[in-house]
Amino acid sequence: MTANDDLWPFLPGRQSLRIVSARGATLVTDDGRQILDLAGGAIAVNIGHGRAEVARAMADEAERLTYVVPPWSTPSRETLVARLRRNWLPPSLTRAYFASGGSEANESAMKVAVQHFTARGLPRKNKIIGRELSYHGTTLATTGLGGHAARRIGLEAVLQDHPRAPTPYALRGPQGVATDQLGRYYADAMAAVIDAEGPETVAAVMAEPIVGSSGGALIPPDDYWPRIRALCDQHDILLIFDEVMTGFGRTGRRFACDHWDLAPDLLVAGKGLAGGYAPIGGLFASDAVLEPIAASGGEIMFHTFGAHPAACAAADRVLDILEREELVARSAMLGDKLTNWLEEAFADHPHVAEVRGCGLLQAIEVVADRSTLEPFPQNAGVTRRIVAAGLERGIYAYWGGTGTIRDIVCLGPPFTITEAELQRGVAILREAVDAAIASL
Ligand SMILES: Cc1ncc(COP(=O)(O)O)c(C=O)c1O
Repeated sequence: MTANDDLWPFLPGRQSLRIVSARGATLVTDDGRQILDLAGGAIAVNIGHGRAEVARAMADEAERLTYVVPPWSTPSRETLVARLRRNWLPPSLTRAYFASGGSEANESAMKVAVQHFTARGLPRKNKIIGRELSYHGTTLATTGLGGHAARRIGLEAVLQDHPRAPTPYALRGPQGVATDQLGRYYADAMAAVIDAEGPETVAAVMAEPIVGSSGGALIPPDDYWPRIRALCDQHDILLIFDEVMTGFGRTGRRFACDHWDLAPDLLVAGKGLAGGYAPIGGLFASDAVLEPIAASGGEIMFHTFGAHPAACAAADRVLDILEREELVARSAMLGDKLTNWLEEAFADHPHVAEVRGCGLLQAIEVVADRSTLEPFPQNAGVTRRIVAAGLERGIYAYWGGTGTIRDIVCLGPPFTITEAELQRGVAILREAVDAAIASL
């Protein structure tokens, strides 16, 4: 069941599952056990595992054109960009850059924002504001920007600090602010950070429009993003949306920004772009962001494997399948059912404070005391226990939270999962939560 310790994992003495095949929403271990993949890996697999036509598209492309230096164009990239423009991206985002994953693409977005203002003769306008609960990737720059306490441990001495605004979090919101005032409250908090830094020094605000696993599918109040968009416009600040987890249908719309009918200046995507079939991240930008850099003779340095031909072919075929099988609508439809099943399973649970999310990005937050929202002690390792109890019972759910905010369990299954599988998964999750808490 566990890998040979001499071979894997990277850290000695740790254990890992060994998965040898996967189909649809089911993973198979080396001893033949089936695990229902309620998290699509790292919430990446959207069209399900084992789709032969994607594998074939990649193989065909690898045979036709293995690799070229990324500044050159290739047919599979052109086809992908045309599809993205035609069917997926907000119309203002016309330019596409590809990296090997979400972290690289996010870091590229940070660089582009700074390069944009330098090219316009405003080099002092170089700060990027993040948010307190967030995750943007594993490079030093994206870790420095993100607000994921656990993933910063041991790196504090070298991380560049960024200003951060509070992330809207209704369950743990401010005392004495009415629910319908929360959007204004959190937007005002962002405005206060911008003012404190000096708008003339701020290049960008970077955020997940719906927070992924770090906050556990946190949806902000309806008026929050329109207010932040207006704030950015007012101060000539670029709005960067990290849609690495939320992009390509995960929240029941093409992108999470579609829930508010607004577009960022830069949009970053990863995971769902190729549905787990290939490592590829995308950075999409408006002409207005890039024109000053081009006019000043600047460059955007490429990653060696950026826009890799086989990865572009995989992404194009995955998006084609999402379109043909109308899987974004299915994510929304299944998401509504999932919310109901989770509510039914956990509404009366003494240790579940909230069920939240939309589409097929949802989460539960487990607490020691539901009335005070007091969490279990960190060293109790409740999230780890729940995930382990789930695996023992045949489901895989994703651990969320940042350490500070914790015991959040996320669900992000393939959009092709059947209703019966999903409903069974929720029932097993309830058993896993009970077993984990009983084991404390
Ligand atoms: C919102 C968000 N941004 C960025 C990343 C980093 O992407 P990657 O792991 O592909 O580098 C992740 C990964 O979980 C993510 O969820």
